[in-house]
Amino acid sequence: MLIAGNWKMFKTPSEAKTFCRSLRESIGDVEGIDIAVCPPYVSLANAIEELAGSGIDVYAQNVHWAENGAFTGEISTGMLTELAAAGSIVGHSERRQYFGETDDTVAKRAKATIDAGLKVIACVGELESERDANETEAVLARQLAPIVQQVGVHERLVIAYEPVWAIGTGKTASPAQAEEAHAFIRGIIDVPLLYGGSVKPDNAGELMSQPNVNGALVGGASLDADTFASLCAAASVVA
Ligand code: PGA
Repeated sequence: MLIAGNWKMFKTPSEAKTFCRSLRESIGDVEGIDIAVCPPYVSLANAIEELAGSGIDVYAQNVHWAENGAFTGEISTGMLTELAAAGSIVGHSERRQYFGETDDTVAKRAKATIDAGLKVIACVGELESERDANETEAVLARQLAPIVQQVGVHERLVIAYEPVWAIGTGKTASPAQAEEAHAFIRGIIDVPLLYGGSVKPDNAGELMSQPNVNGALVGGASLDADTFASLCAAASVVA
């Protein structure tokens, strides 16, 4: 089981340092699960330094597919490797919604990251209007197709199912809704599957107990070290 905290555009380098120090303490003897944090680029180095030897992985929130080049605002897998980052998230719905990310660019980012020897959390998920129109499965199939084609099953690939209507809204998918989507995704690509969307310490246990849910991608509840640690503890009980 993997519990990954996506900090989004929160925490400066000094805040990352303080957070990681407290996380090491709060996480104490939580065992039996993998834990990761995903700071903004400028805070990666501090997080990696503070978490060295803790077993907690540090991921970026996005990465480009080219080795280098004229791509203002992007960073490469080589840059992450030099920092000793474990990997990167790709295709988060906020990238898709606000920054023009497409199914194909997500797959290109995922492939380059895997090829560079790094780990990938590739995100998929439907909008509320798509769920209401019974298009959830069609959307997931469409988003996954290029990832399946360009990467396929790989030991360093994880898929995160994040229904867009559940992200940052407090509207969590029910355990049954999460399980249904995860089972559908597993039929397309059999890799570890994370659920994301308003996961909190008090709903993590039930969500993580679903047979096809192998972890969580956590936004809001990952920003406070004690809260994130209790969420990890709740997940470790059912791992
Ligand atoms: P949330 O975000 O936990 O704040 O809903 C999840 C995510 O966007 O990864």
